[in-house]
Amino acid sequence: MAAKKLSKVPEEVKMKKGDKPAAVEKNHSKVPEEVKTKKGDKPATAAKRLSGVPASGTVALSNLVSQMKSMGIDIVSFSMGEPDFVTPENIVEACKASLNEGFTHYTPSAGIPELRKAIAAKAFSDNRIPCTAKNVLVTPCKHAIFMSALAFLDPGDEVILPDPSWVSYEACIRLAGAKPVYIPTKFDDNFIIDPSLISASITPKTKMIVLNSPSNPTGSVIPCETIKDISKIAIENNLTVLSDEIYESIIYEGKHHSVAAVPDMFERTITISGLSKTYAMTGWRLGWAIASEKSIKELDKLQTHSISCCVSFTQPAAVEAINGPQKEKENMVKEFKKRRDLAVDLIRDIKGLDVNVPKGAFYLFPKYDSKVKSEVLCTKMLEEAHVAVTPGSAFGPCGEGFFRLSYAASEDQIREGLSRIKKFMNNL
Ligand SMILES: Cc1ncc(COP(=O)(O)O)c(C=O)c1O
Repeated sequence: MAAKKLSKVPEEVKMKKGDKPAAVEKNHSKVPEEVKTKKGDKPATAAKRLSGVPASGTVALSNLVSQMKSMGIDIVSFSMGEPDFVTPENIVEACKASLNEGFTHYTPSAGIPELRKAIAAKAFSDNRIPCTAKNVLVTPCKHAIFMSALAFLDPGDEVILPDPSWVSYEACIRLAGAKPVYIPTKFDDNFIIDPSLISASITPKTKMIVLNSPSNPTGSVIPCETIKDISKIAIENNLTVLSDEIYESIIYEGKHHSVAAVPDMFERTITISGLSKTYAMTGWRLGWAIASEKSIKELDKLQTHSISCCVSFTQPAAVEAINGPQKEKENMVKEFKKRRDLAVDLIRDIKGLDVNVPKGAFYLFPKYDSKVKSEVLCTKMLEEAHVAVTPGSAFGPCGEGFFRLSYAASEDQIREGLSRIKKFMNNL
């Protein structure tokens, strides 16, 4: 896949000396009487379930970086949660063809049959998940997680999840009225969750375990034996497992193991994955949930009352992504591995930083040697060194003392950004 060029403000839209902003049309210059706030008007009061649920910190940071870049500030951004490659051409062409054919209306809520079939066949052969098309719901990955929380959690339920872990799990759990129970993981264990700590945290209220391998933010890949041990705990305690496998194709060493492939786990597991990271398709909003037919019916119920269905003309393109040539995906993973190795070497050369070599995803989670809170450190780094990384504390209490660096950036950007970080750390 070709690397995307960093966007610059194009010359033609830059203001030149003497340019005047366009005059506002007379009719638009006044707020019409009927939309003016009147005395006594009040904004809608937010529901209680939203209190204590912050907006996504990672999305807020990317918005800030875009804003700073648009002001002409030379930012090196390591905050991206998406591949910096373009979507492969065969997939784009398949989408254009479906648009040209007028495939622009609602589809069945669970997705077009060809796509459900393609996803099930892929999951059966690559992931060894014993599923058919009836076990698949086509939906954006994040929406699948949100709906799973609403569909399978009741207020007061407890949900076990690793600390640190991706920002939206806690939000989705809280929005369902349930309670996140974090299990600490350690730098020295490559942030792999310890099954004995899961067992020790189970109470009569525990309903679900959330797993994410390869992990955002640490890049760690859960070994097969650990997945089997956690599965045993889930079976013994009658728990549901939500297994987020969105980075399943971005693995550099070892193999990806799906929880739902473990004997007796399929019925109690909701496997979430999608196209965003594998084929550089984050903006297409296409993913899936794989689960028992009964669970898929519940999720589909929520889908019919929320987004109705995924975008129609992207679905045939998703079939092409899954069934078509995979060369570009493989090249992207090779490229990411080169960048990971480069970034790890450069970070290990910086005094005050240490980092593991993660086996998957495109994130590093360096530890820094300072008492400064990660949010303060990252803000200072952005302001003074013009490098954007995400504070570790955004991912849970155990993320304090770390930051997340996404190496979905060119080798030149990695060299430049880490040289700035080196100077910054020397002056801290
Ligand atoms: C761990 C994890 N799960 C789910 C998602 C959501 O994926 P999507 O953008 O395909 O909905 C992300 C996105 O960054 C992620 O990092």
